[in-house]
Amino acid sequence: MRHLLSLDDLPQSTLIGLLDAAQSLRPAALHRSAHRPLRGHTVANLFFEPSTRTRASFQLAAERLGADVLNFEADSSSTRKGETLTDTLRNLEAMGASLFVVRHTHSSVPASLAAACAEGSSVISAGDGRQSHPTQGLLDMLTIRQRKGEDFSRLTVAIVGDIRHSRVARSDAQALRTLGVGELRLAAPETLLPERDDPSFAGATVADSLDQALEGCDVVMMLRLQRERMDEGLVASLEEYYRDWGLSPERLALARPDAIVLHPGPMNRGVEIADAVADGPQSVILEQVSNGVAVRMAVLEHLARG
Ligand code: CP
Repeated sequence: MRHLLSLDDLPQSTLIGLLDAAQSLRPAALHRSAHRPLRGHTVANLFFEPSTRTRASFQLAAERLGADVLNFEADSSSTRKGETLTDTLRNLEAMGASLFVVRHTHSSVPASLAAACAEGSSVISAGDGRQSHPTQGLLDMLTIRQRKGEDFSRLTVAIVGDIRHSRVARSDAQALRTLGVGELRLAAPETLLPERDDPSFAGATVADSLDQALEGCDVVMMLRLQRERMDEGLVASLEEYYRDWGLSPERLALARPDAIVLHPGPMNRGVEIADAVADGPQSVILEQVSNGVAVRMAVLEHLARG
């Protein structure tokens, strides 16, 4: 693996190897340690979209492995003067950066930078368009595995919300399939469901309602309602959305009593998820965030080793 652009074509053994590595890096992820295999490497964070969790955790992951970190500020960079992204990358390579973490609105950008970079460089997608968010997919799988064990074939998983526009949902569905999930259910208003032939969701079933999706399930993966979709007329109102698709404690009671609730963040509290669920005993949302540092350490170390 030279780049990490998607989980789509990642072999099961590589995916599990990354999860195992992340699990063993958990202590080093939370506290500084002597484990610093990236000393002498430079990681460049190239974020052309806002981010809190992904950007901060890549920075911490790189620093905890001993790398130098270059946080590229898109808004004050020479891309604003017309410099291409490829020229930007090549200039950063000329300063010694070799690991590029890229988030962009257009799904083709990480792949085109991967094609343009020098032989010793690697590109990691930190979220591209609606296509892929591979490290989020990995940290979600690690969080599920910690709580539910390694046998995904016993699990029923529901993905709920704006699935059509969600790169998180695509990476999660791809990883769940690779790990042999027992059943994957999708629940969303008609306007926010993926296209029927979207290969990321092959094998998933579409529930008629949120209640049907939650019935007896082990893992509930909530998604952010992208509020800009309201302007497109895809959602009538936030109140209606919460009424029909919001996860309340009463609704969560339809799932198994030991079901866990994930959300990639940022959350719209009171829109897709109630406070009492987000902060409740079944929520593993902050565990996802902690696991994000360990997963990104595992990915950076794997790629730096070549
Ligand atoms: N989950 C996620 O990608 O969050 P950020 O947009 O804050 O990075």
